[in-house]
Amino acid sequence: MNFDLTSDQKMLQDQVRKFADTELAPVAPEIDQSAEFPWENIKKMAKLGLLGVVVPEKYGGSEFDFVSLAIAIEEISRVCASTGVIVAVNNSLTTYPILQFGNEDQKNKFLPPLCSGEKIGAFGLTEPNAGSDVVAMEATARPEGDHYVLNGTKRFITNGGEAGIFVVFAYTNKELKHKGISAFVVERDTPGFTLGKHEDLMGIRATANCELIFEDTKIPKENLLGNEGDGFKICMNTLDVSRIDIGAQAVGIAQAALNEAIKYSKERKAFGQPICNFQMIQSMFAEMATEIQAARLLVYYAGYCKDKGMPRFSRESAMCKYYASSIAVDVARKSLQIHGGYGYTKDYTVERLYRDAKILELYEGTSEVQKIVIARDLTK
Ligand code: CAA
Repeated sequence: MNFDLTSDQKMLQDQVRKFADTELAPVAPEIDQSAEFPWENIKKMAKLGLLGVVVPEKYGGSEFDFVSLAIAIEEISRVCASTGVIVAVNNSLTTYPILQFGNEDQKNKFLPPLCSGEKIGAFGLTEPNAGSDVVAMEATARPEGDHYVLNGTKRFITNGGEAGIFVVFAYTNKELKHKGISAFVVERDTPGFTLGKHEDLMGIRATANCELIFEDTKIPKENLLGNEGDGFKICMNTLDVSRIDIGAQAVGIAQAALNEAIKYSKERKAFGQPICNFQMIQSMFAEMATEIQAARLLVYYAGYCKDKGMPRFSRESAMCKYYASSIAVDVARKSLQIHGGYGYTKDYTVERLYRDAKILELYEGTSEVQKIVIARDLTK
């Protein structure tokens, strides 16, 4: 067993850490307030190769492994959770399914613009009446000549308002339930595709979270990913990968919350001494640091399972997403508690971290869904 990062992973970590501290940190509080999509930084990250981390170089990517991707997402999210998930969605929810399930033409067409930052990606799965229960989706794609006619509404789509390339799921045969769902690549300028409600979110506010509306949208047949009916498995397989990145995002947010609490506790005095000297505060620090380390190891292990080529790592990915999300929410809560009343104001970073953390337990499968995935694997 080797716990050392490889020299490539270490180099990437140093590079992303530096970039996050110099370029993302100054704008993170601003975009949290304005909810402005951080295009300028996205373009800079494209130049660093962070938009196609696992994509082979021949399609414009950086050809790193999945542990590296998790390391990058942690470092970005430590400073800006919005940017962290924007990058995660582009990498693991958009480039990944195209890379894994697309044919050569699709990879050549869609991966280079997603890696170069010319276009950002999004994942059109959730609907107003179908979140955890994917099979309850109502969107349909009817074959007609050389295209499919897509109808339906997708809701809560991260990057939705700014994305140029979407991986979208719809029924091609509703009677077949999960075996009747198909996956498509949809381009933003397709006639019949419009944007609906922009969500005013509690946290990760700069993520252009938006509704997608498809009304008789003609999708060329060559945009079908895999075969008709492969959609559910493409979706689940993709989420197995992307949940590792949400685990990494959670570790980044939690680490930031701990760092802020330590810093504050050394400055803030009560009863004649810095509050970091008090055992109740120290107890919280010990718990927070231990939980963060455990979560990080679960994230790395899930990434390692993917890199090793394990055919199924749903349990490992769900465990890291579930655990890291829940400790991130708890660590952010404790950090705010340590900050006292000041932590409840917008003058302190922890207020943003506390709001950003909550989404971790909701998106890319709620914590309850992760427990279902883990328990089903244990009892199969
Ligand atoms: N890999 C491959 N195949 C899988 C699989 C996986 N991970 N998971 C399930 N399958 C297969 C099963 O083996 C089964 O196959 P057979 O029919 O051949 O036996 C089939 O798929 C159906 O599986 P289930 O019976 O387990 O399906 P289910 O309907 O009970 O659903 C679920 C299971 C875990 C609840 C699933 O629906 C799920 O993960 N829901 C959550 C959806 C989700 O995460 N949404 C997030 C939206 S994306 C997002 O949030 C992006 C963003 O904004 C950042």
